[in-house]
Amino acid sequence: MRSVTSWKALALLPATLLLFWGAAPEADNLLPKPATRDSFKRESIPFPDENSYSAAKADLGRLLFFDPLLSGSQSRSCSNCHNPGLSWGDGLPRALGEKQVPLAVRSPTLIDVAWVPRLGWDGKFESLEAVTFGPITGKGNMNLPEPEVLMSRLSAIPGYVSAFKAAFGDSSITRSKIEVALATYQRTLVATEAPFDRWVKGNETAIDAAAKRGFALFAGKARCAECHSGPAFTDGSFHDIGTAKDDDIGRGRIFPSSVKLRYAFKTPTLRDVARRAPYMHDGSLPTLEAVIALYDRGGIERPSRSPKVTPLGLTDKEKSDLVAFLRTLDGAPLSVTVPVLPR
Ligand code: HEC
Ligand code: HEC
Repeated sequence: MRSVTSWKALALLPATLLLFWGAAPEADNLLPKPATRDSFKRESIPFPDENSYSAAKADLGRLLFFDPLLSGSQSRSCSNCHNPGLSWGDGLPRALGEKQVPLAVRSPTLIDVAWVPRLGWDGKFESLEAVTFGPITGKGNMNLPEPEVLMSRLSAIPGYVSAFKAAFGDSSITRSKIEVALATYQRTLVATEAPFDRWVKGNETAIDAAAKRGFALFAGKARCAECHSGPAFTDGSFHDIGTAKDDDIGRGRIFPSSVKLRYAFKTPTLRDVARRAPYMHDGSLPTLEAVIALYDRGGIERPSRSPKVTPLGLTDKEKSDLVAFLRTLDGAPLSVTVPVLPR
């Protein structure tokens, strides 16, 4: 398993190269080189050193993930909004909390979440571990504001006491153990091999000609891969692509003085994307065709919009080629065993 530290060091490398490249005297062509097919090759899950993988931790995390005991009225589990059958989202434009009132944003998928360095549409969570008690204690979400209530509910169930002992060597139930176990389980939610991956591995017939043309656009002229980069199709960063029109300014809330981060949201993975409509943080686009139409228009023009998003002038054929490519990112759904909950 690769450690997060070396993974971060790797992530810094292209930035360093770019600096030198930018400084080169003959750098008159500022368009970046198209992303290569190999740059999307799958790699092993980056479990961090401080929370390395163990099967017992992942098993405990799976129990907790599917258990409605984690919500105030014991009616809602993580899996209600991150539903394996709906590509680990919920198919809704905005998530519905315990009280059936819509939240401000859509439930993001958890597929390939191990590769996402900062979490939440606006990046307010610094790690997967740090997300855990956000949804649990959120009044509009799972509505269990006192974490101690959860610890005592779990401590009263012998099956949980022994699962914590198996995972951590002692049976005390703490907030940080809950975070660590849930994060370990979620890091195992990796997209299965898609036709695109088989093509990356060298099987030339795994995707058709339209999808290959679509990939060339994605990696070149349409500039998609400048943000949807690497095996999980995300740079882990935040950009205004010209979506939100309402008063949700995304990452701009956290950095109010930054013009660039107004309306900036996290670049989502594109793994299994065709199964996950509606799209964007606000669920505002119903289909992949509508997404491509947005990029073709260049979104809303405003000072915060990323310089990588400009009107593309795509032909109808190019638009359908891009969609054909996106559809090759669907692998078979992850097979999930919904656990028998300890009671
Ligand atoms: C009511 C629906 C709902 C429930 C229940 C829920 N989530 Fe979420 N989840 C969301 C929404 C909406 C977001 C986006 C929040 C934001 O960006 O502010 C989110 C974001 C996340 C993220 C960040 C993903 C990313 O790519 O940024 C993780 C991880 C996550 N949830 C895990 C969990 C876990 C673990 C549980 C159970 C303890 C849970 N969620 C329960 C709706 C839900
Ligand atoms: C400047 C960086 C950037 C570029 C360039 C870019 N994207 Fe995105 N993409 C994003 C961000 C950020 C979002 C989320 C925006 C939001 O939620 O409002 C997104 C969302 C998406 C979504 C919706 C996924 C989901 O789960 O909601 C799709 C599909 C997508 N992009 C495909 C593409 C394609 C195809 C291209 C090229 C035509 C492209 N992107 C170019 C950053 C980028």
